[in-house]
Amino acid sequence: MTDDTEKTTHFGFTDIPETEKAGRVRGVFGSVASKYDVMNDAMSMGIHRIWKDAMMDWLAPRAGQKLLDVAGGTGDISFRFLKRAGSGHATVLDLTEPMLIEGRKRAEAGAMADSLEWIVGDAMALPFEDNTFDVYTISFGIRNVTRPQEALNEAYRVLKPGGRLMVLEFSQIPNPAMQWAYDRYSFNVIPAMGKVIANDRESYQYLVESIRKFPDQDTFLGMVRAAGFEQAKYRNLTLGVACLHSGWKL
Ligand SMILES: C[S@@+](CC[C@H](N)C(=O)[O-])C[C@H]1O[C@@H](n2cnc3c(N)ncnc32)[C@H](O)[C@@H]1O
Repeated sequence: MTDDTEKTTHFGFTDIPETEKAGRVRGVFGSVASKYDVMNDAMSMGIHRIWKDAMMDWLAPRAGQKLLDVAGGTGDISFRFLKRAGSGHATVLDLTEPMLIEGRKRAEAGAMADSLEWIVGDAMALPFEDNTFDVYTISFGIRNVTRPQEALNEAYRVLKPGGRLMVLEFSQIPNPAMQWAYDRYSFNVIPAMGKVIANDRESYQYLVESIRKFPDQDTFLGMVRAAGFEQAKYRNLTLGVACLHSGWKL
């Protein structure tokens, strides 16, 4: 007998049962892991580095802080955080083990090994006690999570009172002409680049489609507030191509 009430969600522009999404997302990132860092530089023309630095500027890491970097992939955010903090600890958690394996191979991972931990896990069910971390980050990760509100609720749970949430994600460009130009680039160039560099057009087709399906800045701000975060705000980056959302557990 089929279950007519099975919940569905989107995987890019395709509707799929919710129960299949994490497996498909793991397939995408498992497939691109070894080329992930090279592709990030190629498809953003290096701009993802500026956005990640902007995240650190707003976050202003302090010595001794304990970071949880969810969907941390190959470690870009954790490395930056530890460099800026000077001392502290970062836990990189990700659904896809091959991404963490690539991260551990990076020179920064060796240099900061005593301050880093790498854990396979799901943003929607974090394997940590309540009130554990000073800072929670998720960079270009939350749009891949099956139920983003549950990830935000978990972020709130594991942060200490006084703890800070910061989300970096692609967003929606408020200007229609710019959106048109950006769509031409995203849908025509990025999957083709994925084919050439990572020999994987489909994964990069999913990535650009998933950007279109993610809520706009104000809708996502409402979700951050619904999880319990206070003083929730956002800042657009590159006219809204990406966006930072910040909130506090007070
Ligand atoms: C685009 S990469 C971002 C990596 C890194 N944070 C960065 O900014 O470069 C997205 C990552 O999210 C991870 N991810 C997707 N869904 C997840 C989930 N439910 N829980 C934890 N990680 C998840 C993927 O495995 C992938 O490594």
